[in-house]
Amino acid sequence: MEFVRNQWYVAAYGTEIGRELFSRTVCGESILLWRTEAGTVVATSDRCVHRRFPLSEPPSHLVGDTVVCGYHGFTYGADGVCVAVPGQTRIPRTARLSAYPVKEQDSFVWVWIGERALADESLIPRAPWLRMAGYTTVYGMEPLAARYDLLVDNLLDLSHETYLHGGYIGTPEVANTPITTEVDEDRGIVYVSRHMDDAECPPFYSRSTGIEGRIVRWQDIEYHPPCLYLLHSRIAPVGVYPEADGTDAHAFHVEVVYAITPETETSTHDFWAVARDFALDDQDVSDFLEQSNRTVVLQDVAALNKLEQVIASEPDGYQELSINIDTGGLAARRILRRMAAASPPPARAAAR
Ligand code: FES
Ligand SMILES: [Fe+2]
Repeated sequence: MEFVRNQWYVAAYGTEIGRELFSRTVCGESILLWRTEAGTVVATSDRCVHRRFPLSEPPSHLVGDTVVCGYHGFTYGADGVCVAVPGQTRIPRTARLSAYPVKEQDSFVWVWIGERALADESLIPRAPWLRMAGYTTVYGMEPLAARYDLLVDNLLDLSHETYLHGGYIGTPEVANTPITTEVDEDRGIVYVSRHMDDAECPPFYSRSTGIEGRIVRWQDIEYHPPCLYLLHSRIAPVGVYPEADGTDAHAFHVEVVYAITPETETSTHDFWAVARDFALDDQDVSDFLEQSNRTVVLQDVAALNKLEQVIASEPDGYQELSINIDTGGLAARRILRRMAAASPPPARAAAR
């Protein structure tokens, strides 16, 4: 699948970006990220306009709020405009790095890939729990050597938890309980829900919540293509439901957030975070959830890396067989195809 351009993508956690030059590739574009002395995140192309030396590579370095190329010293301001070149005072007019619209929000650094004029910060989907009072969050990022639509597929069909994540988050009820899928075509959001009213409690939740015995387990997915995936997870002892007024004091809530960012056509940045509204100051629970979720993510990574190898080594045209559990994934693919068609890559756009 082609990259879906003209969209916001998570390039990094805010905590990854400081006064060191940092680079991450998003949709095949190598992006240089750093923070000004005032603390604002800057995102520009990572390639010096002179001879393409990566500006994230030593001995390139920051001097105040300028980046000095480590090869011949071209120097750029935070807006990407070159302010000094060696051996002459005249600075070529075209000497500027392309600057990416960037926004720090909900602990993520979002960058806009595509036509700059279309960047609208109000389009960035929210994951407020990651920085909200009343929640404690653990998070990480795992590199995935697989195309990003494989991860979208994976996350939209959680029935795989029973098989791939047995002993961690999978129990028989996940695969056995039918899903409901809804698509908001106008806003381009896919919702997949699975409500289990009498389920075994997997270790991920029994050890973190302390619930003994069977549970009500609700999984409500909200996928905002292309990048943000939210899983609202509700866990409560069997028979415990939200009050008529919507309050839900006797349940445990976990917001599982993924940011799915294509790196290249066959690799992906798999950002994951787990925010909970209980045991807020319990470091053991934080350690346990962090380590368990990383293990679970790495189980997906291993499976999807394998799948990528299979896809790469076999001819196109394989006919997959889809069933009910795939409804959400198929809806997501349809929306992603529509988004890709609406924002063609620059070369194709120019050829029109
Ligand atoms: S490559 Fe950067 S100054 Fe020459
Ligand atoms: Fe998984």
